[in-house]
Amino acid sequence: MIALAPSLPHGPHPETGHCQEALSCQESPSTDWQRRVAHAFSRAAPRYRELARAQAIMADMLLPHLPSSAQQVLDVGCGPGDLTRVLSHRYPQASLTGLDLSAAMLVEARRYTPAPFSERIQWLCGDAQQLPLEAGSQDLVVSNLAIQWCPDLKQTLQEIRRVTKAGGKAVINTLAPGTLQEIQQAWSPSAADGSTGDTGVLAFHLRQTHIEAAYAAGWAQVTVNQQRQRFFYPDLKDVMDSIKGVGAQVPRQGAHLTRRDIATARARYERLRQPEGLPVSYELLTLVLHA
Ligand SMILES: C[S@@+](CC[C@H](N)C(=O)[O-])C[C@H]1O[C@@H](n2cnc3c(N)ncnc32)[C@H](O)[C@@H]1O
Repeated sequence: MIALAPSLPHGPHPETGHCQEALSCQESPSTDWQRRVAHAFSRAAPRYRELARAQAIMADMLLPHLPSSAQQVLDVGCGPGDLTRVLSHRYPQASLTGLDLSAAMLVEARRYTPAPFSERIQWLCGDAQQLPLEAGSQDLVVSNLAIQWCPDLKQTLQEIRRVTKAGGKAVINTLAPGTLQEIQQAWSPSAADGSTGDTGVLAFHLRQTHIEAAYAAGWAQVTVNQQRQRFFYPDLKDVMDSIKGVGAQVPRQGAHLTRRDIATARARYERLRQPEGLPVSYELLTLVLHA
């Protein structure tokens, strides 16, 4: 999804009192980027389900692409596990793994998974680019809005391919350029008002780049659909909550937002207002990959 430049934590989390170490996977040889991403999502974890309306709607769009049966199912970047639980209903005989970089997301996932489903789902802290799973161990891999956070697209698709059995399938939602264009417009620096810095929106890859990366990663058959999804919010605070509350950070790393910055952004965003509210656009890519 969105915003870049998650700021590195110092000391205990202000709300949970946990230190960074408790919020990300200790086993993974994390890069600075991964630690920042894990920390940003861990801070967001307690309120994620409440604020992730757009993410939940986009997750549902994966369902028509699922195969009729599966025994070993992996959800990459599972967050608090809503999609993993849907999959456990869909495949009542399957063993499932929900994997995420953020330990706090997995705490939420466990909290919301009652028995008997909890007996069939293992929650694993790990990195999508270095999956802690055996080659050929999964017959279905699913992922909703997580792989855009991985710096190396080809390596991520290669890892997912590695753990997928021959004849297996991956169904993945990710994002393309044009996503959050309104945020970029509202927060972009302008010579007119003298503000500086970037908007903090992730650099998304084109549909064609995903197709090429998937074939280069060893997938036998690749389909990538692109569609624009727009969501509407009553005001700028709700727009920003919908983004920050699901793990993104404030735009412009290290910059302190002044009242003037916020007033400028609000005025720019108001120009985009539709009868339904303030729009937030996502260019959704759905990858259907056959091993
Ligand atoms: C926008 S949330 C989506 C969560 C969930 N799939 C959903 O549909 O609500 C993105 C998730 O990807 C996880 N994530 C980001 N980078 C990751 C990586 N390299 N490996 C595993 N998980 C990652 C984040 O911690 C976060 O929980």
